[in-house]
Amino acid sequence: MEFPVFEFPYLGTGMIIALNAVLHVIISHGLAIGAVFFIVASEYTGFRRASREWDDFARDFLKFTVIVTTGVGAVTGVGIWFIPSALSPRGIGTMLRVFFWPWFIEWAVFTCEVIFILLYYFTWGRLQGAQKKRHILIGAAYLSFALLSAALITGILGFMLTSDGWPWGRAFWQAFLNPSYIPQLFLRISSGLSIGALSSLAFLLFTRKDGAFRKNALEFFAKAAIIASSATIAFAWWYSTVIPPAFKTHAIFSVLTSRLSQYPRIFWYANGAGAFLLFVTAMVSIRGRGAFAKILIVPALLAAMTFVAEFERIREFIRGPYLMPGYMYANQVLISETPLFKKEGMLKNDPWFNQTVDNQDTTAQGAYLFARNCATCHTIGGINDIAERVSGRTEDGIFVLLGHTSDMVPFMPPFSGTNAERHILAGFLYDLSKGTVKLHDPSRPVPFTAEDRKGDGRHG
Ligand code: HEC
Repeated sequence: MEFPVFEFPYLGTGMIIALNAVLHVIISHGLAIGAVFFIVASEYTGFRRASREWDDFARDFLKFTVIVTTGVGAVTGVGIWFIPSALSPRGIGTMLRVFFWPWFIEWAVFTCEVIFILLYYFTWGRLQGAQKKRHILIGAAYLSFALLSAALITGILGFMLTSDGWPWGRAFWQAFLNPSYIPQLFLRISSGLSIGALSSLAFLLFTRKDGAFRKNALEFFAKAAIIASSATIAFAWWYSTVIPPAFKTHAIFSVLTSRLSQYPRIFWYANGAGAFLLFVTAMVSIRGRGAFAKILIVPALLAAMTFVAEFERIREFIRGPYLMPGYMYANQVLISETPLFKKEGMLKNDPWFNQTVDNQDTTAQGAYLFARNCATCHTIGGINDIAERVSGRTEDGIFVLLGHTSDMVPFMPPFSGTNAERHILAGFLYDLSKGTVKLHDPSRPVPFTAEDRKGDGRHG
């Protein structure tokens, strides 16, 4: 591969990308789109009704939202680039080649978002009275950029599950306007509005005393939450209809994992319970029962965030064994390269590995073959531990298994490498399962030169 391999300890590649991304999605959809939408709506309500309370509420909530979105939101947004650049460089590099323009335009759009949200925040006090309309328009302009941002990014995300005709046609619009683009865009916007409405409820309940304004606002945000959540369910259903059945069959497994997937009912009960909680919270708020709503709102918000995490987990998981269906496997090996690796070998074709002085050492070779073939989804000693997965098997058994990874578990890519390499990896995995592999001490640099090697304990 053109890039060196990094493995993230314990959590593994997929999980560390996912943790950052889910946090980013919750903030970018729920606050940057959802909450700001309700802030602008509240400001407008205050303007129409000449209500100081609506206006103050909008302004206070905006302060919180600006801090979280420009702080945590922007940092995790950068993380979405940096983490895969290190852990999945070939995947992100290839995606960049396909989607150069949307990403480039997104960069400009994001800059505008930041400018407009700060402008909206800092001109609140100055653009009052006759100029209030102008201020509301700044908020609306910000929202337009935020939605444009969602429209640009969703084309790329949709492609990663439903690449459709692109692997054959290789045309940009074919990739961008893929079958899951529109339903997913609507789903993302409606779920953002749903979290936005719930966050508005939470902010209201925890910062405003009971009274006419709070009752009024509770009813408004709760009704909005019901509408947005119902739309989310409808769009999620629409979205699910465009996903190829071969991928869809893994949806419940992706959430319950092998531990619970024999009980698929848990999936439906848990999701039903979450939806019910959101509904009850909204109904209690509409009735003006503030004290009760205050107890329910935090679990309800957590449930909504869990829905986001669940959706992203399913979307990212079910496309396995691919990173780009029809083109690249999850472990960043191109489908078209596999025959070459099978014939000529993976190690031989790896300039990075060949730079190391360890390149003749079978443990190092085994570790590298594992890193390239399996480490996207398996760790050593952490989540989805490979030693646990192969434990109890003989070395020959593991060798056979390596020829059938994609038959055993449909979301695992095939092993890429020669038979000799399959033996090396089988030996390495067998030793791992027996606990007899001495792995490199992570606190010390990998020996690259003979000089480095002297200091490396493994070589005496
Ligand atoms: C795209 C992600 C992915 C890649 C790449 C991957 N695996 Fe897996 N593998 C999984 C998942 C997910 C499971 C199921 C985990 C569970 O049971 O919860 C699994 C399960 C397994 C199992 C247990 C299967 C069983 O039914 O007992 C073995 C053995 C295994 N993997 C070996 C490998 C090896 C060896 C490689 C590299 C050549 C590899 N995997 C690459 C995702 C992957």
